[in-house]
Amino acid sequence: MSQWSVRSATEDDQQAITRLAATCFVAYDPPERRPPWQVMAADEGSVVVTEGAEIVGMARYLDMQLTVPGDNVLPVAGVSAVAVAPTHRRRGVLRAMYTELHERIARAQYPIAALTATQGGIYGRFGYGPATIERGLSVQRRLATFHHDVPDAGGVRLVAPGEHREQLMDIYDRWRRVTPGGLECPGVLWDDLLADREADRDGGTAWFAFLHPDGYALYRVRHGDTMVARVEAMTAVTPDAHAALWRALVGLDLIEQVQIDTFPADPLQYLLADARQVRTVSQVDALWLRIMDVPAALRARRYLADLDLVLEVRDGFRSDGGRFALHVRDGVAGCTPTDEPAHVHLDIDVLGSIYFGAHSVTELAAAHRVHCSDAELLTQMDLAFRSVVPAVLGYHF
Ligand SMILES: CC(C)(COP(=O)(O)OP(=O)(O)OC[C@H]1O[C@@H](n2cnc3c(N)ncnc32)[C@H](O)[C@@H]1OP(=O)(O)O)[C@@H](O)C(=O)NCCC(=O)NCCS
Repeated sequence: MSQWSVRSATEDDQQAITRLAATCFVAYDPPERRPPWQVMAADEGSVVVTEGAEIVGMARYLDMQLTVPGDNVLPVAGVSAVAVAPTHRRRGVLRAMYTELHERIARAQYPIAALTATQGGIYGRFGYGPATIERGLSVQRRLATFHHDVPDAGGVRLVAPGEHREQLMDIYDRWRRVTPGGLECPGVLWDDLLADREADRDGGTAWFAFLHPDGYALYRVRHGDTMVARVEAMTAVTPDAHAALWRALVGLDLIEQVQIDTFPADPLQYLLADARQVRTVSQVDALWLRIMDVPAALRARRYLADLDLVLEVRDGFRSDGGRFALHVRDGVAGCTPTDEPAHVHLDIDVLGSIYFGAHSVTELAAAHRVHCSDAELLTQMDLAFRSVVPAVLGYHF
């Protein structure tokens, strides 16, 4: 019978942590890399599971800043680098680490915890729901022409991205402050991105970059039977910047396809005369949210309709659920615990899924994930939880 225990990670654990992470994620960081995550780690935010002298599990949370609908920016615990040794799978190591980590997150009073997942079937049981959607698009560039209503204002320059670090950072920061799911991006992550190491290129070229006063696109080209440009970072603060950057990308005459992972409401298809030249090739979850403090999180965002209801939130992992009265007037919410009977019943992962408005309350009700016998109230709740600005994950972590 094996005996293992959970404790805080220390400096002495670094070598074993690096080996475990490399084994589980099948990638070694280049030795010259200064791991950006170390700079973002929260105090007491890193745990390991040991069996004797061996480290067999690791998990951490990062101290991050997350934008929610209505432009409020909240502290969020970004759970990351979760790995269990292949020799110790399915014995409850992850559950033990998560129990301890979320106890720490609750003690530090984060209203929300967040993660990006390698697999979709694991985190619902821990109260996380997918809250943003990432849609993969492929533009058949040779057949793509712009709709006659779309202006051609220009303003895009070809640049070496490393020479424009401050401008890129400023554009991203303007964007993330007004976009639900936007995350503050510390300078170390920009250094990492702009270092443009061979090991990070996945067979593609070095960065090519287009810069507009209100947007940028970084892409790599892959040479196969045809040439494909893969846009790996695109941020546009204004519709003009978005259109101008796409004009530049569609102007890459020797390229067959331009690929991008973006959000479902990206207006790209409407820029073109023939929307069929934009093909959807994938759709996956991106940012997952677990609401740690229901009243604080629900008060923090803005709403699109008035609301008066009692929510019964079930938390099967911790005891952060309960019954809450939610009153919304002119977009602003009050939320308090109550003993009044509930109108709407849902699990805490579902609350995470509807929090940014990217998933619909009525669709989740149709799937028996939200329970409410009043159809009108459900429609009103669906409307209230929408967001004017579509939610987009700032970056994977
Ligand atoms: C995913 C991983 C962390 C799971 O660790 P583990 O210690 O085997 O998980 P546990 O035994 O604690 O399982 C906890 C629960 O999750 C479930 N679970 C674990 N792995 C799962 C998977 N791949 N798919 C679906 N459910 C899974 C278990 O059935 C268990 O459910 P229960 O407690 O409700 O009965 C581990 O397999 C791993 O390190 N994988 C490679 C790296 C990785 O993918 N990390 C996740 C980054 S997002």
